[in-house]
Amino acid sequence: MKSKASAPGKVILFGEHFVVYGVKAILCSINKRVTVTAEKIKEDKILVKSNIGNLELEANKNISEINSPLKPFYYLANKIIQNKNTGIIITVESEIPLGVGLGSSSACCVAGAAAISRLFSNTTKDEILELAIEAEKTIFQNTSGADCTVCTFGGIMEYDKENGFSKINSEPDFHLVIANSNIEHSTEVIVKDVKSFKENNEDEFSKLCKEETKLIEDVLELLKENKIKELGEKVNQNQKYLETIGISNQKIREMIQIGIKSSYGVKITGAGGGGCVFALTDDTNLNKTINQFREKDYECFSVKIDLQGLNTF
Ligand code: PMV
Repeated sequence: MKSKASAPGKVILFGEHFVVYGVKAILCSINKRVTVTAEKIKEDKILVKSNIGNLELEANKNISEINSPLKPFYYLANKIIQNKNTGIIITVESEIPLGVGLGSSSACCVAGAAAISRLFSNTTKDEILELAIEAEKTIFQNTSGADCTVCTFGGIMEYDKENGFSKINSEPDFHLVIANSNIEHSTEVIVKDVKSFKENNEDEFSKLCKEETKLIEDVLELLKENKIKELGEKVNQNQKYLETIGISNQKIREMIQIGIKSSYGVKITGAGGGGCVFALTDDTNLNKTINQFREKDYECFSVKIDLQGLNTF
């Protein structure tokens, strides 16, 4: 018997970094997915196959001794097959570029948790989310859980440290053109850099947090009203704040100049220092924006909000 599940990637639309200091962030899942297939096997081993390589190990290994980006799958499989007298083979197919802030690891954890657990029982989305966050912690100890949550439930979500997650019921009709700087970033390192910026510039940082809070309030209204052009102005404003805290660089600034020519707004999504930017468009300027990035040889593609979240087959 096979069990199959898919989960979407995500972008942070507004509020990254400031969210670490209590400000609200807005995330959405995107229509690029990871699909995971799990199957029981007679041999007593855990085998993970993916386009970034394979992992083959016996069960009950100490997770800290495993040095592989596929470690979350091992963690999930090992936990779920305990006392079940079976091995497992997991196949991963991904449409989401790796390590550039588009939630590929969260989507792997969510789809992995669903595909593996549903080989044995009818786990709920909440149970799957809990497993996925545990698995993600094997590679990023301090995850807020926001990414796995939006990958599980889909749509747009607001998140803050004190109140957790809540789904936003707007369905704004925009396209995001995502362009990849192809510079891999370490979220942990960049979060530390922002902490130093804050410690050296307490007054300025606290003013920025207040401005970001106001911006997010405005964005929540604009999302309800589907006002894409005005949202674009907020995207640009948010990018200025990210520039001030030092997470941009020359390449990102160049990409922003390209995107801004025809879209409504462009910003970093996620930790910055590399990774991706998104340009906000509607049907009228979508193709032009894509072409402008491609003319300058940037890897880019367009996405829409995914409303489905986790899907099991
Ligand atoms: O690039 P990502 O998807 O890892 O986003 C990090 C978001 C931060 O706000 C910078 C950190 C965090 O834990 O919220």
